[in-house]
Amino acid sequence: MPKKIIIDTDPGVDDTIAICVALRSPEVQVIGLTSVFGNAPGEVTAQNALRLVELEGHGDIPVARGSDVPLVFPLERLGTWVHGEDGMGNTHPPAPRGKLVDQTAAEFIIDTVRANPGEVILVPVGPLTNLGLALRLDPGIAGLVKEVVIMGGAVACPGNMTPVSEANIYHDPHAADMVMAAGWPLTIVGLDVTHKTMMTTQFQQELFKADNPAVRLIEKILPCYKNYFNGAFGLNGAIYTHDPSALAYVIRPELFETQSVPVFVETAGRCVGQTVADWHHQWEERPEVKVCLGVDSPGVLALIKERLTK
Ligand code: BDR
Ligand code: CA
Repeated sequence: MPKKIIIDTDPGVDDTIAICVALRSPEVQVIGLTSVFGNAPGEVTAQNALRLVELEGHGDIPVARGSDVPLVFPLERLGTWVHGEDGMGNTHPPAPRGKLVDQTAAEFIIDTVRANPGEVILVPVGPLTNLGLALRLDPGIAGLVKEVVIMGGAVACPGNMTPVSEANIYHDPHAADMVMAAGWPLTIVGLDVTHKTMMTTQFQQELFKADNPAVRLIEKILPCYKNYFNGAFGLNGAIYTHDPSALAYVIRPELFETQSVPVFVETAGRCVGQTVADWHHQWEERPEVKVCLGVDSPGVLALIKERLTK
């Protein structure tokens, strides 16, 4: 039986790759996408989510629009300087044909989890605002989801938004802290592993040999994203593998090494958005979460390539 997943996403170049991998993987059944602000404004990421299910011939998959702003802080910097004004590398794709469902992302998550108790895996690969809102509306869902697998955080490594914070957590630290504290089975796929897995130019060239709509779109939207990695990290045309790594974890968790530890998110001051692991249980009681610290990078890359090129 495929795992039922809801991808909560801010597409987004790497979100696009992750969603295409998911839609092409028999191990998972994408039962919905929920969108959130982050890499681009909320109205843009919602339309991109619709575009992506249509691109892959899954226009029947419901897409619910989520939050345009963080829970507490005012909307600050979006990721348009990384992903383009349209979240699609400034390629301005045509409007999607389909419509969003008539529910907010938080409502969709709650109803779907309650209709499938113990079965749904939530896979947030953007700011955690929708999950925070869902927990606020219905804390009972924490005991009903099968698992939560987030792309976010930098537990034992430097950040990418600030020296200590990763972008998805930084964009809504209050929601992220609620998610860490909720007591549901949670795994963090953060920069600790996504910065160890690089899609080199050689990997990209091999990928682009395939001829299907997903690969053609990825090839088109990638240059803008690569510019960011060249400028910020000197990667010479390579990119780190963020959101697709979370999907790889859902599909093949054995490719990752995890350690269990309580994690807190800093919500104020210079270190806002930092994911702090309480390794020696010195702070107040908080449930442990699994943090990915090791990864079989060739295994993850082979999985992604296989799914996108078949
Ligand atoms: C995360 O931030 C966004 O730019 C990416 O889509 C990814 O989810 C990486 O820090
Ligand atoms: Ca993302």
